[in-house]
Amino acid sequence: SKSGLILAIETSCDETSVAVIQDGKHILSNVISSQIEVHQRFGGVVPEIASRKHVEVITLMIEQAIAESGMKLKDLSAIAVTQGPGLVGALLVGIVAAKTLAMALDLPLIGTHHIAGHIYANQLVHELEYPCMALVVSGGHTELVLLENEGSFRMIGRTRDDAVGEAYDKVARSLKLPYPGGPHIDRLASVASEALALPRAWLEADSYDFSFSGLKSAVLAVINQTQMRGDTLNEAALARGFQESVIEVLVEKALRAVRAYGAKQLLLCGGVAANRGLRAALTSRCEAEGVPLLIPPLTLCTDNAAMIGAAAFLKWQRGEYSSLDLKAEPSFSL
Ligand code: KG4
Ligand code: ZN
Repeated sequence: SKSGLILAIETSCDETSVAVIQDGKHILSNVISSQIEVHQRFGGVVPEIASRKHVEVITLMIEQAIAESGMKLKDLSAIAVTQGPGLVGALLVGIVAAKTLAMALDLPLIGTHHIAGHIYANQLVHELEYPCMALVVSGGHTELVLLENEGSFRMIGRTRDDAVGEAYDKVARSLKLPYPGGPHIDRLASVASEALALPRAWLEADSYDFSFSGLKSAVLAVINQTQMRGDTLNEAALARGFQESVIEVLVEKALRAVRAYGAKQLLLCGGVAANRGLRAALTSRCEAEGVPLLIPPLTLCTDNAAMIGAAAFLKWQRGEYSSLDLKAEPSFSL
């Protein structure tokens, strides 16, 4: 395999991140500027503000990533960038920066799928064995993806409504917890002494799809009814009930998919992979069933450019370059 130095840029949502990756494995730098505080008072990401914030910091992030890597621009082999899916205005900022670098340095440009990035974050710390199954859980995605070979992605299940992280954030918001709410619900659930009984959306018996909007509505109904009765809400029990419902369905479907497709490994990735309850439940289930489980370290689970560099490295090795008229793909399919 060729050795290479890739500078990767990720601006699909509310994190501006630039990384320098050597040989697809070594993270020389992975700088991340989070806009969370800016969006917090709106209770979610405001697309227009996200684009402007990316513009403000992108050049500095590129300079920092290069400086921290100890490398020089002339050492680079390629420029990688998230092409989609994501917020179109946010994606464009990263794409323009990447094209400018590629053109100025006369380097190949490699457009990368954001979810391929989340999946290949695992490659930075583990060796993948094919076929493997990826459970992608983030603020925008809930998917089961079969990788038959390197770079071949087959979506076998997806959410029919809310993404799991989105459901976490909405439930947290209705409990008046700050954005992003996932970590707060996770913490509340971990201190609960009991769990409220809430529904599980299994869908059709043979389906690998997910649905979280019914569960979210059930949570809202509990909150409203408690308020109407003038009772105090056991928020921890509600959080734990919600989390248990989410986890049970995710774990069950992921393991059924692993068995059905003969996957050699299960990869957990995306922002919700930071959830302690989910990690613990998957770990014990996979141990019991003898399924190797790969989870990236926490910092590589949420949006970052190192994961984009990891996915782009594989494309670079195969000579799969993008042209300089690469377009942002807000609803890019894998
Ligand atoms: O992958 P990510 O950083 O961005 C997207 O591509 O969406 O994921 C962000 C999502 C948010 O919805 C956030 O609430 C959720 O990941 N999240 C968590 C936890 N940490 C982050 N959800 C549940 N438990 C957590 N510990
Ligand atoms: Zn993401």
